[in-house]
Amino acid sequence: MTEAENKTRAELSKWREGWVKRLNGELSRAMKNPMEGEPPEVGNLLSAMNHTIEGGGKRLRALLVLAAAEAVGGQEDWALPGALAVEMIHAYSLIHDDLPALDNDDLRRGRPTCHLVYGEAVAILAGDALQSLAFETLASADLAKLADGPERLTKALFILAKAIGPLGMVGGQAMDLAFEGQSPSLTQIMTMESKKTGFLMGSCLALGAALGGAKEGTVKAFEESGRLAGLAFQISDDQLNVTGDPKLMGKNVGTDAKKDKASVTTLISQKDATEKVSFLLNQALDGLKPFGSPKLEWLIGSIFGRSS
Ligand code: FPP
Ligand code: MG
Repeated sequence: MTEAENKTRAELSKWREGWVKRLNGELSRAMKNPMEGEPPEVGNLLSAMNHTIEGGGKRLRALLVLAAAEAVGGQEDWALPGALAVEMIHAYSLIHDDLPALDNDDLRRGRPTCHLVYGEAVAILAGDALQSLAFETLASADLAKLADGPERLTKALFILAKAIGPLGMVGGQAMDLAFEGQSPSLTQIMTMESKKTGFLMGSCLALGAALGGAKEGTVKAFEESGRLAGLAFQISDDQLNVTGDPKLMGKNVGTDAKKDKASVTTLISQKDATEKVSFLLNQALDGLKPFGSPKLEWLIGSIFGRSS
């Protein structure tokens, strides 16, 4: 690596570190008392929400929102409510995904899963509450200074709602369930994985672009690249479920095989899966090339060969 490349990489890492710190602070603040003026704790609902939100995570989705806004000439601060919202949605999806009725996992972000600590009923409610808090947070974005602020916000709300609904993340999760005990084809698995993981990542880029002031065509291009990157992310997750280190990942590995669950790696070799990941990431990067964003390129590139 040249000296200039090293410098760029160090700057990007610094940007990420700074934002992860700020995002964690903002998320904690948003969790403190989402019901302003109301008693701060209802049973232990807020503690259960906090358990997963404050458990950390890479904050990749939030960083993608911020980088996308900047890539289209907007300010990262305009997109911050969107970045917080996608992390809340992500946390809700992790809590529900780990429930006994779904994947029945006991480890997440290096901690016991939410339902193990707070019980199933509270974990279900914590996921529900994080989902509504996400929309409340995004809808409260202060874009009043911008002439088209309300329009950008409506677009962002629509993008997020659509991505996580029956045609997106929840639909993908329903396919995941329906495939249990079946032998889906590679195409079917990739469609399911694109929906359950790729659509949320697509919405990160799209709503970042929308909040940053991009035109419809750009928002769509960002969404498509995000979906491709998200599919690559899920395929690498399937790989890590076989080869990963649970300590680095903060979650159990070998769970797909234990549940006899079809994933990309049950149908193709690790080597072919790595090629697929690389192909999809290159497609995602190609779509973003016209916008010349080192941050987006670096974040998306980091999916290749990831270990956590
Ligand atoms: C790990 O993200 C998460 C995934 C690979 C996504 C899996 C898909 C779901 C959980 C969808 C479930 C949907 C419903 C409706 C229950 P990560 O490695 O970025 O985690 P981190 O934020 O902890 O780093
Ligand atoms: Mg799952």
